[in-house]
Amino acid sequence: MQDRLDEIAKTIGEIRFIPEGLSVEKGIVRLTGRHRDETSRAAADKAARELIPWRKGPFAFGGLELDAEWRSDKKWDRLAGDLPDLKGKIVADVGCNNGYYLFRIAEAGAARVVGFDPTLKYKLQYDLAMAHAPALPIEFRVEGWDALAHFPEQFDAIFLMGVNYHAPEPAEIFYACKRALKSGGLLICESVVVDSPAQLEIFPRGKYAGIGGVYAIPSVTALARQLEVAGFTEIRRQHLVKMTADEQRPSEFSPQKSFADAILPDGTSIEGYPPLCRAALFVTKP
Ligand SMILES: C[S@@+](CC[C@H](N)C(=O)[O-])C[C@H]1O[C@@H](n2cnc3c(N)ncnc32)[C@H](O)[C@@H]1O
Repeated sequence: MQDRLDEIAKTIGEIRFIPEGLSVEKGIVRLTGRHRDETSRAAADKAARELIPWRKGPFAFGGLELDAEWRSDKKWDRLAGDLPDLKGKIVADVGCNNGYYLFRIAEAGAARVVGFDPTLKYKLQYDLAMAHAPALPIEFRVEGWDALAHFPEQFDAIFLMGVNYHAPEPAEIFYACKRALKSGGLLICESVVVDSPAQLEIFPRGKYAGIGGVYAIPSVTALARQLEVAGFTEIRRQHLVKMTADEQRPSEFSPQKSFADAILPDGTSIEGYPPLCRAALFVTKP
């Protein structure tokens, strides 16, 4: 595995791209410019294919249109109307995957964006993107949420999306986020949730709607209470939606089975769990 990733890193090192800019068009993070030669273009194409599956996107790198499994722009669009002005802000994205949202946050004008994700393959996807990028105030740390400890009271906002239910002790992550936020800072906690008014959690055995590595799935009220216990205030449910296959589906760069294969016609998951919903809570560090 490591040898294969080293080979891909070498291929990315062969890219010679003259970047022009970053833009977002119909949700696609577009890095424009031109390759110096055909060898560079071929290296970019090869690395992109060797890094399949791309879970998060869509991206376009100098003419290479790269559709991922997730239309990550749909989540951004749900959040965007309620986000504070990110211009000049210091922002973290914990569990940033390949950095799709790092580019969205940078494009929104943040002064510094720090991504945390321990998965080396996603870092290589990010490196491929950055091989096409102009100078941006983005950094990617191949570390987990615990590395937030190196950033005490540094961030104006932290995005924590799709992470809590993968952790056996999500409260520890909430405390770590709180310590890394400035006073008055905002945590955007986005999660898979159970759509129930009760304060409850379910504990799937194995997978939930095909998602592996899942521990506890909270209802919105349970998640809100966990955040309150961690010391956050001004807790607000920003959205609650039922997941659809428009947002998560197979694509050229992520051809494996996806959401539609994990949901029965009545909306329940193939493992017998309730329909998969997602919610975001906006909470403040006092
Ligand atoms: C479900 S994905 C969510 C990706 C993205 N935040 C989103 O909302 O689309 C979970 C991510 O958390 C990352 N991850 C796994 N362990 C982690 C840890 N200890 N700390 C931070 N992120 C972690 C995974 O590599 C993966 O990219």
